[in-house]
Amino acid sequence: MKKILVINGPNINLLGIREKNVYGAQDYDALCAFIAKEAEAIGVSVDICQSNYEGEIVTFVQDAYGKYDGIVINPAAYTHYSVAILDALKGVALPAVEVHLSNVHAREEFRHKSVTAPACLGQICGLGFMGYSLAMRALAALPDEK
Ligand code: DQA
Repeated sequence: MKKILVINGPNINLLGIREKNVYGAQDYDALCAFIAKEAEAIGVSVDICQSNYEGEIVTFVQDAYGKYDGIVINPAAYTHYSVAILDALKGVALPAVEVHLSNVHAREEFRHKSVTAPACLGQICGLGFMGYSLAMRALAALPDEK
């Protein structure tokens, strides 16, 4: 069974409180429960972590090396300026999919640029919780590493 690590960045833990018109009314626990349920349906094992600190996210990515088959990452605001997270993703070279709950391209211009997406297989945005499920599906469908 493939092992996937889901990494959520700053303020994702505030779901249900922050900007409900953008991120919806469901809270972070609901997101984690959704991810766990979808992982079971897809047939992958999943661990979920969250941090409001850039360096801790870098450490999550580094620690995934050798333990996980793929990463789903929502770097949140760090998406738009974290070279450190970009370098960590490139460094471990695990297949990764970037997810955003909101459609970043329909929002402020500074959100249109992702510094981290070039280190990922692809990016999913604007589909809410479903983006995490689609990202796990994409990782599950990849051929096994030799
Ligand atoms: C986000 C989009 C980012 O621009 C923002 O800073 C976030 C959340 C999203 O999931 O839509 O915190 O990554």
